[in-house]
Amino acid sequence: MNAPTRSDPATGEQPPPDVRGRHRPGLRARLTGGPSPSPGLVAIVIIVTWLAVLAESTLVPVNPALHRVALFVHLACLVVGFGAVVAVDWIALKWLLRRCQLRQVLAVADQVNLLIWLGLAGMAASGGLLRPDLGSTLTQIKLLLVLLVALNGVQASALHRRIAAFTGPVPRLLLLRSVLAALVSQGGWWGAMAIGFLSSHPT
Ligand code: HEM
Repeated sequence: MNAPTRSDPATGEQPPPDVRGRHRPGLRARLTGGPSPSPGLVAIVIIVTWLAVLAESTLVPVNPALHRVALFVHLACLVVGFGAVVAVDWIALKWLLRRCQLRQVLAVADQVNLLIWLGLAGMAASGGLLRPDLGSTLTQIKLLLVLLVALNGVQASALHRRIAAFTGPVPRLLLLRSVLAALVSQGGWWGAMAIGFLSSHPT
């Protein structure tokens, strides 16, 4: 069981320490304590991977069976990745409406972070197998949106870690940047989804 499900959903209060489990580090420790790679390094890995996916897409042979499987994986990864993003943004919206506490947002973001990255990586790998038309402007925009979503995700994760490290009130500028990152993320995902759909189903 994790932190968000064990806290009181209405107040965000934690149960007494004996119920919490003694051997697991707290949220703050997990978000800030472990060594995390530098955002700059992660961004470089993302850009190199993105270029590798573009190169991969030019080498894929025409194969209807492969295309079908890749499309299924693409959509399954969309459910996993974007579903996790929606879950975080939903609880963040509740926090903005003062219906839950900030640390609940951070706890959910922490728990689903891996799902978001797995979904995005799966979409990129399967997308490359779908033989995107790299000459099409819409496809180019979509691929740039995907890169934006990934780089923005690195920035959002770094922001979450900084916010989680605060023991007192969190500076408003940091919160504002976090909300901005969430808006960029939503715009990028919806844009990529819309373009993917429009390219697959031209009028
Ligand atoms: C945030 C990431 C992405 C999202 C949200 C997304 C979303 C979608 C959606 C909704 C479709 C329409 C599927 C259908 O209606 O049958 C689609 C199709 C497609 N996507 Fe993506 N996609 C993403 C990343 C990528 C990447 C990185 C590539 C390429 C490297 C890619 C290449 C394609 C191609 C080629 C199709 C057309 C498939 C067909 O022939 O029907 N996508 N995508």
